[in-house]
Amino acid sequence: MNPFHYGSIVTDKDFCGRAEAIKQIQQHMDGGQNVVVYGERRVGKTSLIFEAIRRKRSHRALRLDLMNIKSIDTLCRKFISAPFFFAGSIRHQMESIFTSHDSPFFKSAIPMSIDPLAYEEFAPFLTERFEAGQRKVSAEYLEKIFSLSGGVTGDVQQFCEAIWYVSEPGEEISQQHIASAIDILISREKLSFQSALAKVTASQVGVLYALAVLGGKAPTSKEFLALVGSRNASSIKKALESMDKQKLVYHTEAGWKIMNPVFRLYLHLTMEPRAQG
Ligand SMILES: Nc1ncnc2c1ncn2[C@@H]1O[C@H](COP(=O)(O)OP(=O)(O)O)[C@@H](O)[C@H]1O
Ligand SMILES: [Mg+2]
Repeated sequence: MNPFHYGSIVTDKDFCGRAEAIKQIQQHMDGGQNVVVYGERRVGKTSLIFEAIRRKRSHRALRLDLMNIKSIDTLCRKFISAPFFFAGSIRHQMESIFTSHDSPFFKSAIPMSIDPLAYEEFAPFLTERFEAGQRKVSAEYLEKIFSLSGGVTGDVQQFCEAIWYVSEPGEEISQQHIASAIDILISREKLSFQSALAKVTASQVGVLYALAVLGGKAPTSKEFLALVGSRNASSIKKALESMDKQKLVYHTEAGWKIMNPVFRLYLHLTMEPRAQG
């Protein structure tokens, strides 16, 4: 059975690391303190909360999905007096719930920000799982997997799942496996990528391609503009903001990113570079 899991929460033996964060959450639980957990999509917010509660044994989890709750009123009606943990990816929206003065949740929860599992913590866990299935993976290839999947916890697991799928016991993971895994990952999502591309403008497609190739640290640099084939930085900014609304890209402290790392690989592999100049 494939030992890599993505797309749902992981707990117990499938949960790696984060000892310090677990301890902090448990201390807040003891103090009856609400906590809000921030972080990118798929870094492991929900899993962290569930694992902290699971290890406590004395508590049980009540989960409310607030994804489609659009107003504070509905939110309030949905849950009035339970002990709460909040977790969300849309940072500015999440933050406004807890930081705007007229919100009923103003200052009601301690904020906790979590990053993707660090390579040093995650790599031994993943290596062990490959080895338990008689697959050898060198640090060099594990680093490749991290970089191709953008280092986000759930995306790394998804990549490992595909590597496992295309490999056999007794094999050592090689470039061949990486290439086959990318093919598999892309084939699973190709239709949705094509329909996403059909919905954006030609210049937005150009920006996506440049993001895929150059990354999003400096989307107004000369190099970026040249690759997009655009002369002005403000049009790039507009394209990024519009695609942010469509959840194709998002902004992080490290710059703009394509939301789905498999989409990034797809763009990289299937699009021709545009004429420069
Ligand atoms: N502590 C962890 N150890 C191993 N994998 C994890 C861990 N946390 C998250 N993951 C991976 O990330 C995926 C998404 O986790 P989840 O908790 O749903 O993230 P979020 O709530 O931040 O979107 C999981 O399915 C799993 O593949
Ligand atoms: Mg979640």
